[in-house]
Amino acid sequence: MRILVTGGAGYIGSVVATRLLEEGHQVLVLDDLSTGHRDAVPEGAEFVRGRVHDAAEILGPAGLDVLGGFDGAVHLAAASLVAESMSNPAKYEENNVVGSSRLVSTLVDAGVPRLVFSSTAAVYGDPEEVPVREDAPCRPVNPYGESKLAIDRVLAATAAEKGLAAVSLRYFNVAGAYAGRGERHTTETHLVPIALEAALGRRPEIVVYGDDYPTPDGTCVRDYIHVADIADAHLLAMAGCEPGQHEIYNLGNGNGSSVRDVLATVEQVTGRKLPVRVATRRPGDPAVLVASAQRAAEQLGWRPARPRLEQMVGDAWELVSKGAA
Ligand code: UFG
Repeated sequence: MRILVTGGAGYIGSVVATRLLEEGHQVLVLDDLSTGHRDAVPEGAEFVRGRVHDAAEILGPAGLDVLGGFDGAVHLAAASLVAESMSNPAKYEENNVVGSSRLVSTLVDAGVPRLVFSSTAAVYGDPEEVPVREDAPCRPVNPYGESKLAIDRVLAATAAEKGLAAVSLRYFNVAGAYAGRGERHTTETHLVPIALEAALGRRPEIVVYGDDYPTPDGTCVRDYIHVADIADAHLLAMAGCEPGQHEIYNLGNGNGSSVRDVLATVEQVTGRKLPVRVATRRPGDPAVLVASAQRAAEQLGWRPARPRLEQMVGDAWELVSKGAA
């Protein structure tokens, strides 16, 4: 298939593009490089710099001619910082809602039949029940989660009205590295890369945001999932989607790891003691977020091949300790 990958210069998008190429697909990456890196785009993928808002104009003189040649699109380009979404909600509305809605219309107008969308566990907010299933109530607690939920709903309507085959993949906590591609955000907020930077001595300490949660060790529990397993779910979704249907799948391992579990794993993998300080809670953090990914297993045949936290941390460590990320 010929696939458009928006956000293919980013952490997850570059791994999705890599896996698509490895499976013999053709890939064109559209990315404005606002947070992504040109050198993360895999060799063998075409690259066009630009915003998703302008996809029709950018991709060829008439735009639609080029887009009409795609068998599908994977849309990952987005602003994705929860804290930033609280301080600058307009950016999330403009990038994630306006940009994505316009991209969906452009793709439908051009006759692109399939779309796999990068959604998030943040749509569920602070869930009442864990593991979280796809039919859990969606009550996002930040504009980032709101913006992704808005597009999940646009996709449901577009599938029903226009016959698009659409899939929303709701990622839990993505970690690890694949084929030389890992997390390298200018503004890093995620636990695993921050802990690895502390292990490298690039940070003076790692701050644990709260140890008074109602969890076994008092720190927040998350469901970490390897970036290559996340990428593989996109390939399965692209192959398994049906015209006129919008499907939603949670992507996680179904295992909860606390912040302290993650830090212990980082110490074990790196062989280095982390300078840890406990501070107050970070606003908006749910105590426990663990996925039920039963649906993805049953309907897509998705089985995470790298479920162990040690492997995720080990793969990320191999990359950052080589100075490659
Ligand atoms: N944490 C720390 N110290 C840090 C960084 C994180 O204690 O320096 C804690 C957080 O408080 C949280 C856990 O580690 O309890 C994981 O935090 P991350 O920032 O790595 O990930 P989040 O769970 O906040 O974010 C993930 C996704 C988001 C998504 C969100 C939904 O990365 O895209 O889940 O809650 F929006």
